Amino acid sequence: MINEKIFQNVLSEFDSPLDSIRTVAENFQRDLQLGLTSPQDSSLKMLKSYVGLPSGKETGKFLALDFGGTNVRVSLLRLDGFGKYEIIKRVGEPLKVSGKYDYIGKGSTAVQLFDFLAKIIDEAIDGNRDTEFYLGHTFSFPSAQENLNDARLITWTKEFATANVVGEVVNDLLANALSRRGLFNVKPVAVINDTVAVLLAAAYKNPEIFIGSILATGHNTCYLEPSISGAVGSGGMILNLEAGGFMNLTPNRFDSILDAHSEQPNTQRFEKMVSGRYIGELFSLALAELLNEPDKHYSLTSVDISAIISDDSFNTAKRILTEKVGRELELDDLNKIRRLASAIVIRSARLVAASFAGIIRQRAGNNEISAQLIAVDGSVYEKMPLVKENMRRAFDQLFGSNSAKIDTLLENGGSALGAAIAAAMTP
Ligand code: BGC
Repeated sequence: MINEKIFQNVLSEFDSPLDSIRTVAENFQRDLQLGLTSPQDSSLKMLKSYVGLPSGKETGKFLALDFGGTNVRVSLLRLDGFGKYEIIKRVGEPLKVSGKYDYIGKGSTAVQLFDFLAKIIDEAIDGNRDTEFYLGHTFSFPSAQENLNDARLITWTKEFATANVVGEVVNDLLANALSRRGLFNVKPVAVINDTVAVLLAAAYKNPEIFIGSILATGHNTCYLEPSISGAVGSGGMILNLEAGGFMNLTPNRFDSILDAHSEQPNTQRFEKMVSGRYIGELFSLALAELLNEPDKHYSLTSVDISAIISDDSFNTAKRILTEKVGRELELDDLNKIRRLASAIVIRSARLVAASFAGIIRQRAGNNEISAQLIAVDGSVYEKMPLVKENMRRAFDQLFGSNSAKIDTLLENGGSALGAAIAAAMTP
């Protein structure tokens, strides 16, 4: 039976009271200001995307490659203008299948990975070698860009570790793989972050959207910065904040243990507190303490968290926990464990909402906050219980009388649509 005092102590580690999220919003805003004026002092990378907002008039057929999570997807899309589009074909495959292959682990190479991507592109166009296809590439890792056409990987995140990609120009790697496969008719013309893709996709339909975000395996946000020129499209330059790397936070002891054991310690501290790749691990660590089994690793995932929170009857929680903990737990313990899972998710939603508040304040400057939606994509935002309503609640607390002006909006499928729009915007 879980000790009540230990339970309260562990639970309180995941508290996110108003004071703390207000500080996160302020610190996030300060890092945004520093990123614009004195970048070396900011924990936000604020990478230029070389793209602004679309006009809505972008049309035509494009290929979209979406690379950055557990699955890779390639779509053939037709843009019909002003938010309208049709997916003509979509294919996708996991990047790793246990016991079969793994293109994202340390043992894999750039050539193997990009040859796999080229194979999936080939499937999406049914082996066509005659028609010319322009391809937009959503590449969801911190990358340095000097134009919209290309990007150099700065560092892997989300525990990806394929060799020989860091420091390389990713569309060169892709173009080489396409030629190895004889796909000379596929031209990679644009590369964007997935947050940028979400913003482009949402803005294609709705002009009052300036912030795009992902809450999935990883976490990140971008926004339209009006003071920077040199981008195609309108309204300024979309900056990929690499918000997952935000550092001015107060991690708890579980966050610190998780970070110390991760592929790249002391990086992506915000992402490691909020995103799908990590919250299952936080849950496992905290649970080991609750059950007084400090050396155990239960390998619980964000999907387990979602299932445990969704089911009031505790049947699912019982099944999952019996399997992963290795013994049957009492109802009272299951109840406590479910409260722990909820606290982890609520903290994630509130921290992310606080970062959005920092961006909204920064964009508004001395002016009134304008009514706007924040476009968000990703499985944790879309499917995890408690996320949307806790973001909403955090906005109510942080914005007071202005809170009705702000909300989040699901933009699913943004990665493919955004990549196609970016390809269409390429000069
Ligand atoms: C990457 C970002 C990406 C985010 C969401 C993070 O790990 O650094 O570039 O946008 O994941 O996929």
